Amino acid sequence: MSDWTRRDFIKIGAATTGSAMLPGATNRLLAAEVPASSQPVAHTSGAAEVAGPRERLLMDFGWRFHLGNANNPEKDFGYGSRSEFSKTNDLFAPSQSDFDDSQWRALDLPHDWAVELPFVEDTELTRHGSKPLGRNYPETSVGWYRRVFQLPASDAGKRISLEFDGVFRNAMVALNGDFLGCNLSGYAPFSYDITDFVNFGGPNVLIVRVDATEQEGWFYEGAGIYRHVWLVKTAPLHVPQWGVQVTTSVRPSVAEVTVISQIANDHDDASPCQVETVILDPDGKAVARQTTSLDPINAHDEAPCRQKLSVPDAQLWSLDKPVLYRAVVTVSNAAGVSDRYEQSFGIRTIRFDANHGFFLNGEPVKLKGTCNHQDHAGLGSALPDRIQFYRIEKLKEMGSNAYRTSHNPPTPELLDACDRLGMLVMDETRMFSSSDEGLSQFSRLIRRDRNHPCVVIWSIGNEEPAQGTPRGANIAKAMKRLARRLDPTRLVTEAMNNSWGLGLSSVVDVQGFNYGKAEKIDAYHQKFPSQPSVGTEVASTVSTRGIYANDAELGYVSSYDLYAPPWATTAEDWWRTYDERPFLSGGFVWTGFDYRGEPTPYGWPCISSHFGLMDTCGFPKDNYYYYLAWWRDRPMLHLFPHWNWAGREGQPIHVWCYSNLERVELFLNNRSLGAQDVPHNGHLEWQVPYAPGVIEARAYKGGRVVLTERRETTGAPARIVLRPDRARISADGEDVSVVAVQVVDAQGRLVPYASNEIAFHIVGGTGSLNASRHGGGGRISDAEQPVGPPLGVLSACGNIIGVGNGDPSSHEADKSNIRRAFNGLCVVFVQATKQPGEVHLLARSSGLDEATVTIISQSATPRPAV
Ligand code: GAL
Repeated sequence: MSDWTRRDFIKIGAATTGSAMLPGATNRLLAAEVPASSQPVAHTSGAAEVAGPRERLLMDFGWRFHLGNANNPEKDFGYGSRSEFSKTNDLFAPSQSDFDDSQWRALDLPHDWAVELPFVEDTELTRHGSKPLGRNYPETSVGWYRRVFQLPASDAGKRISLEFDGVFRNAMVALNGDFLGCNLSGYAPFSYDITDFVNFGGPNVLIVRVDATEQEGWFYEGAGIYRHVWLVKTAPLHVPQWGVQVTTSVRPSVAEVTVISQIANDHDDASPCQVETVILDPDGKAVARQTTSLDPINAHDEAPCRQKLSVPDAQLWSLDKPVLYRAVVTVSNAAGVSDRYEQSFGIRTIRFDANHGFFLNGEPVKLKGTCNHQDHAGLGSALPDRIQFYRIEKLKEMGSNAYRTSHNPPTPELLDACDRLGMLVMDETRMFSSSDEGLSQFSRLIRRDRNHPCVVIWSIGNEEPAQGTPRGANIAKAMKRLARRLDPTRLVTEAMNNSWGLGLSSVVDVQGFNYGKAEKIDAYHQKFPSQPSVGTEVASTVSTRGIYANDAELGYVSSYDLYAPPWATTAEDWWRTYDERPFLSGGFVWTGFDYRGEPTPYGWPCISSHFGLMDTCGFPKDNYYYYLAWWRDRPMLHLFPHWNWAGREGQPIHVWCYSNLERVELFLNNRSLGAQDVPHNGHLEWQVPYAPGVIEARAYKGGRVVLTERRETTGAPARIVLRPDRARISADGEDVSVVAVQVVDAQGRLVPYASNEIAFHIVGGTGSLNASRHGGGGRISDAEQPVGPPLGVLSACGNIIGVGNGDPSSHEADKSNIRRAFNGLCVVFVQATKQPGEVHLLARSSGLDEATVTIISQSATPRPAV
């Protein structure tokens, strides 16, 4: 393959039983469209509070935002021109309570300002998604966030803290002018105890100055407060953040659950206390209980409470039945209940075996994994929680059972989705380092994530230059020591792309292979037969959805499984290698979804990657079906390409089939072109002289046709079809319906080349439009012309929060209500407001019959928020 970019070659190396969820949690579970497990939970990261003095309030709503300037103090609200740090409570001019922020933009979190910026042609930016961030773009690299909130006078005496799930990056935080701290990492969570700085009974001004000048990766990373922010209130005697650790061991008829709760005493006197832990089963029934009296904890000190409980007839967490238990820890002193903290967990066993791969609950499970970055079409890196679930659902549908959080700590809700849907996770830190910063980031990752049953292994890094050196080994040793201390239940790996057997290879528990030929992997296994191994990164096959010829100018790669950069392989190559070797625990395909940046094999005008099995929207590419065939055991058949080849009559077209049935016969316009046996882990090919009409594949098992697939030569684009992933969402201000948009011909067949520009509007109020629920066509009357507000202005029940089409070379705006179809498809994201009602989405394009769909945003109690 030609036209590789330079970089491509320079690769180096919770206890009131049953009331565990917050008010509204049950309302958030929608009956009809998706299983309950597909909905985000009311609480994140498995930690929640039940009735008790603790409050955890979402702080996503009602922010103000303004770009600053990395070079010019005058344009950066004076930052850098005054002695900000000379007194510790005078940080940032916008911290003043009388600061006029009316010119700042009103927005809600999560927010990524990078996705809002235009695309820029600059080779330095290509890998990062071609957005103007960095030293050369000071005017778009710094963002200021301001949030004014009230705390009631009755909160005096409580401990108050702020928790940030992730800010990209280099965040400097001040409250009421007091310096709280700086957080460098764009991915690691951080928090501040703000009790000393708050105004009880008055307004509080929170300022976050975010400097995204520097990158941490070589891919799109976004910019801003792109994950949730929480305000947490507790009594002085409380469980600190991530203060409950649950580990389990399974005996034949009983599970031992060890709960270590950290108790912090922020009273000015020593306090005795009692800790009661109750284990709730998935139905909310208490199945174990233990109460422990602790010796008095010194003032402003902490003490652990270790409890061991037995759960009889435990239901194990598995991929098909991801059963979650809850530990509800109640802390009391003489005055009564002081804190109640809930921690979800799963009961399961995991094991990596050097010869037989990975085991879950004693059963071998081949890891059929994907690596993924965290951005999505239309949204950048600021994903509503529902989109995390959407992505994991898509991967599971394909047959994938494992996810690598390459190359950084994930959003907590990603792990919630994996816990609830049944997806194993390799959890990776960003900074391979034994520096204080590196260990701090890794420590925060482990302490936050160690109770998630989905997490089965820690990854300490990816393709680090020091991987094969003694220095690399030293760093790895320190990181592994930390991992063992914080979590004795999981092993450690690193994704190495060379130097296997050298440097940190001897330190990690599980050898990670990024790419690497079968011979090298076999030789390694022979030499180190007692070390388990896993394909931390495999494939990197490139393809563009719906494209069947390489086009360097437009930046498209053909979808046949033929193209991969020099270090990489086709899908078929790696999976055959791994499937044939039981000692390999499995592998993680680079990548499940396309992502912004790294447009290998091209550069500008390409702005996003081609590695995904799905495009940035989650529309499957043909390679997706290869995995569907060999990763799932239900019968399947996929035929490609499309059958619109006007102008190529009589010329040969490569026709491919993926199937896991025995034999496939191909027909062109009802004439058989012959049958072929399906090779295990392979595909079938025919060369077919093109004639318009119908190409059909029939797949047989035991001599009987089990499945058929057709591709028909379509007519011209005629109308739009709208298909929401869910037609009912929750009116909680957060939930999202992902609406797939198809351009079809007069007979309703997807037009595989359609690129019509489509405008989307939320029209009218509840019930104003007689719309067909699932995207029927037809023109609406003049009286019903769209009256939807422009994007960004609140409409009553729902808003368009982004659009996308998976075209890796599209420079159209994501934050828009207009998008072209790309090869017949595009997507629009509709987010609920907190007002229930009907959301009518209208799609209109010149020359096409328009379409409407109604999404019901049903009454829900939003999460408690400040
Ligand atoms: C790997 C790297 C990934 C991505 C991939 C593309 O070496 O770890 O982040 O760059 O190459 O093939």
